[in-house]
Amino acid sequence: MLLTMAAFTSLFAFAPSGRSASAVKDRGRELVQDVCTYCHNLDRLNGQELTRQEWRGLIKGMISEGAPVTDQEFSMILDYLVKHHGRKH
Ligand code: HEC
Repeated sequence: MLLTMAAFTSLFAFAPSGRSASAVKDRGRELVQDVCTYCHNLDRLNGQELTRQEWRGLIKGMISEGAPVTDQEFSMILDYLVKHHGRKH
């Protein structure tokens, strides 16, 4: 019985820990999905293709609107947006 419980628990523990490995990689995406949806949905990002410099300015603008973004989060959000909504020259 105890063994069954342990197996059950470890099975449960496995799924979230497997997820957290990719969650670290997708932290930028998570931040965008969390922080950038406080005031509007992510439809705002559709069709946006900005350079790194432009995204930097836009995020700063969002922060002045009240977006709660730390310096560390700023660069993760920036990297994510440049990667997925960047304009390539
Ligand atoms: C505190 C509220 C708030 C948060 C949080 C916020 N925004 Fe915004 N965002 C706004 C407002 C208000 C506008 C409309 C401003 C305007 O149209 O001038 C806007 C507009 C935008 C636009 C459209 C700009 C354009 O020129 O059409 C984009 C893109 C955008 N936000 C991205 C983001 C991203 C990325 C984040 C996360 C880093 C974010 N927003 C977080 C308030 C917020």
